[in-house]
Amino acid sequence: MSAPASDHGHQEPTSFAFTQENLELAKRIIAKYPEGKQASACMPLLDVAQRQHGGWLPRVAMDAVAELLGMPRIRVYEVATFYTMYNKNPVGRHHIQVCTTTPCWLRGSDDIVHACKNKLGIGLGETTADGQFTLGEVECSGACVNAPVVQIGDDYYEDVAPEHIDGIVEALKRGETPKPGSQIGRRSSEPVGGPTTLAAFTTQADD
Ligand code: FES
Repeated sequence: MSAPASDHGHQEPTSFAFTQENLELAKRIIAKYPEGKQASACMPLLDVAQRQHGGWLPRVAMDAVAELLGMPRIRVYEVATFYTMYNKNPVGRHHIQVCTTTPCWLRGSDDIVHACKNKLGIGLGETTADGQFTLGEVECSGACVNAPVVQIGDDYYEDVAPEHIDGIVEALKRGETPKPGSQIGRRSSEPVGGPTTLAAFTTQADD
C-alpha cells in the first residue's frame, strides 16, 4: 500500500516506531510526572519523535505518542498543531525561523525575512530544491530583548541585521555552525552600550 499524500503534497509514512534508545528516553521523561499526569509528557515526547523523524512530525508519530501516553489522538494533534516548534510538514536540514512579532518587527524583522528570501531564493514556508534550507516565520521566540531574532535548529541568532544573513547561510552550507547569540558582540542582554547601573554603583563604591 502506498503512503497517503497529505494536504501539502508530501508523502505521509504509514508507520512510526520509537527507536529502542528513544523509547528508553521517553520512559525516563514520563517517569518525571506523577501517576495519572502522564499527559504532561506530551510536549517533550513530540520533540523526541520529531528529532527521530528528521525534524518533522507525521501523523503516525503523533499517534505513537498518544499510544505511549494513553491519550486520545486528537489531544496530541491539538498540541502539535498549536505550537510552531512542531513541524507538520517536512523541513530542510536547516530550519531558519525568523521571528516577526512586534518587538522583532520594530527592530527590522521584515528586512531579515527579505534578506533570507533573497539569499535562499525561496519564500516563507518553502524549502530549497536541495533540501538544505526551509524558511519560516514564527511568533515571539521569547528573546525580545535581543531582537531581531532568528532561530536555526536549536540555536538562537540575536541582534541580527540583514547583512549577517549571507555569512550565516554560507557557514551552514560549509557544514559549520555559525556562532549563535548576539551577532553584534553584545554580552547576553546587557544594554548595547555596555552596563550602566552596576557600573555607576561600582564607581560610587570605589570612592
Ligand atoms: S518578538 Fe521576536 S523574540 Fe519576542
